[in-house]
Amino acid sequence: MEVVPLSDAVGAEIRDVDLREPLSQRTIKEIEKAFHDHAILLLRGQDITLEQQKIFALHFGELGSRNRPGPKPNELDEYGEHVMLVTNVRENGKPIGSLPDGEMTFHADTAYFEFPSKATMLYAMELPSWGGNILFSNCYAAAEQLLEEIKRLLDGKKAMQVYEYGTTLKMKEKYDRENFPHYAHPVFRKHPETGRSALFVSELMTEEIVGLPKEESDAILATLFEHQKKPAFVYEHEWKVGDLVLWDNRCTIHARTDFPRDERRMLRRLTIQDTKPVIEGRAPFSQAAAE
Ligand code: SIN
Repeated sequence: MEVVPLSDAVGAEIRDVDLREPLSQRTIKEIEKAFHDHAILLLRGQDITLEQQKIFALHFGELGSRNRPGPKPNELDEYGEHVMLVTNVRENGKPIGSLPDGEMTFHADTAYFEFPSKATMLYAMELPSWGGNILFSNCYAAAEQLLEEIKRLLDGKKAMQVYEYGTTLKMKEKYDRENFPHYAHPVFRKHPETGRSALFVSELMTEEIVGLPKEESDAILATLFEHQKKPAFVYEHEWKVGDLVLWDNRCTIHARTDFPRDERRMLRRLTIQDTKPVIEGRAPFSQAAAE
């Protein structure tokens, strides 16, 4: 097997692995290492069943459940509690899956829960003729390359994560915390495997820096969201049918570009549940600032 970086920003392609076949312990260890080193893994040209996708996902931990507290994005479908179809395909006018249409701004999956998903896996089954690309931003690099004064301001702070199901762009001034799940997590999150600190905020889900006056919190968040979009931190992936992408929600955020509503798009999604609590990190001060 070969590990080939996808960009200078983040991610790697795993080559010469066929997920229809059982994987050796050595290959599993190498893939795990690549996951911690690169945060996003791409395996191209896979032709796998749901069972084969689940077997691969289970190497990374227990499957996440969609039976979490709070309202459901849609009724659980025939695939059951672990599988979500990310699709715009409609039957009788109703989407058969979730997150059907259009652009999505940056987010980390289920950041609004006390125990967010550790990782997410998407398998591309049907794609439109253009768009629907997925962008990943490296939250370690974004943390490290913040201005030192911003690191000082945010060190030790928490950020409120909220999400109104079904929204793909944050339009509302304020999410409705009475009715939607929310949780305050450390702004700098320590990754339990790599020990590195990641900037754990995102445009779609982070509503405030807890403890700062509203105006200051809004201004600093706007700066952080722009910072996270810098090309130096971002890899944009153009899907091909048969691509399987696994990403680490503890140190990356992702977004989606627009695509035609009248063309079918379908990806099969599994999540991996985290067994460890979110750990507070420290702002990654530069050597000079730390001295
Ligand atoms: C997601 O945010 O999980 C959806 C990504 C996609 O539709 O490509």
